[in-house]
Amino acid sequence: MTVYVLETNADGSGLDILKPGKLKKILVTDDLSSYSLDPWYACIDKTNVIDFDTFYKGVSHNHWPHGQPTCVISNSDKHILEAVALSEHLRLPSPDKEIFCLYMSKLQLRINSILIGLPVPYFAQCNTVEALLWASEMLTFPVVIKPAFKGDSIAATICYDSEDVMVVAQAAFSGKEPQCLLVEEFISGPSYTAELLIDHAGEISLLGFTNHERNLLGEFLTLAYTFPVSVEKKYSAQLLEYVSRLHAKETSLLLNVEFIIDLKTDSVVVMDINPRVGEGMLSRMISENLGVNIFDIFIDVWMQKKPTLPLLRNAEVMSHFFLFTEKVGHFEFDQSRLEMNGLSSIYHQQQYVADADAVLKNNYVLFPLISLLIKCPSSQLAHDIKSFLISYLRSRFFFKEK
Ligand SMILES: Nc1ncnc2c1ncn2[C@@H]1O[C@H](COP(=O)(O)OP(=O)(O)O)[C@@H](O)[C@H]1O
Ligand SMILES: [Mg+2]
Repeated sequence: MTVYVLETNADGSGLDILKPGKLKKILVTDDLSSYSLDPWYACIDKTNVIDFDTFYKGVSHNHWPHGQPTCVISNSDKHILEAVALSEHLRLPSPDKEIFCLYMSKLQLRINSILIGLPVPYFAQCNTVEALLWASEMLTFPVVIKPAFKGDSIAATICYDSEDVMVVAQAAFSGKEPQCLLVEEFISGPSYTAELLIDHAGEISLLGFTNHERNLLGEFLTLAYTFPVSVEKKYSAQLLEYVSRLHAKETSLLLNVEFIIDLKTDSVVVMDINPRVGEGMLSRMISENLGVNIFDIFIDVWMQKKPTLPLLRNAEVMSHFFLFTEKVGHFEFDQSRLEMNGLSSIYHQQQYVADADAVLKNNYVLFPLISLLIKCPSSQLAHDIKSFLISYLRSRFFFKEK
């Protein structure tokens, strides 16, 4: 009874999927070091990690030294379709593969939304630099450029003029593989994600909302996110209605839905639907609040079983944010000094100094940063503690030049 996990997240996070649960879990990866910045990297049992070759040999020879598979799953955009195909091949339960055609393609998601009358940003599909430049002018700046299919070359990037478009186009079209990009109007408004569970009957359970504070320069760099936060009832109802109309299949699934509350139209616009758990620290934040490992729920739902959702949740709110620093060097950080000042909410802190570019590799962060995960009784307090910590750390601590 073993769950084979074909990678967790594209950004090298999510090792909490391996936390012991009802089932034994084996991580399949060719590059364990890509997870080296995950907080639990040092704690994982390396005997529970195998490479893809070993895994494929298991598939072709039905030889499973780590145990017969009971489930093949992935939480990575690059491997999720493979996990579904292999589940079918091995006759293991998984969500209906057709639903992934909708959720793994932003183009398909936009088309299906239009067909049933749901709001989508104005967009164009482009395969060449010329088409991209022309469409950007037509849509009026700023525009957002992103791959039409998940897992492709570039991250969603905001462009303010045709020079920005050229930079993105060159990066996107420099490889040998043909690229299909979407260029779309910029929707102005606060950005959220919702973690949803959909069962066979199409019933949706909302696990919670996360707000995302993003930098609106270049790639949408996340500065801070907090789970759970509240979202006004009318928007929450719009979102659930949106997803239930799109999800036309009788298949159970866990979804991470990215949406914006469009300030111009005062309505919810769904940007992206990920058929998996959110990336970064989000899985830990959700698990901490639910009191159960969100990945165990993901596995149950993937296997088309009814998950056991906790009746009682922890009251704590979790917030993960980054402190960007100006200097390279080691940041003096003394948890006990903060505790003396009454700040015991820091749950996890990590600093990335010289290697900052490896932290958020998709975002090309080349400056030092400190990652802080805090836990406290309310989202308002999380917000206040974050502001306080930023000024407190700036004023009290200093950087040691290397
Ligand atoms: N057209 C847009 N207008 C405003 N914000 C956007 C737009 N497209 C993307 N974003 C922001 O960037 C985030 C990531 O976009 P997404 O389409 O999911 O790209 P990717 O999955 O490649 O990161 C969204 O959640 C949203 O906050
Ligand atoms: Mg996305």
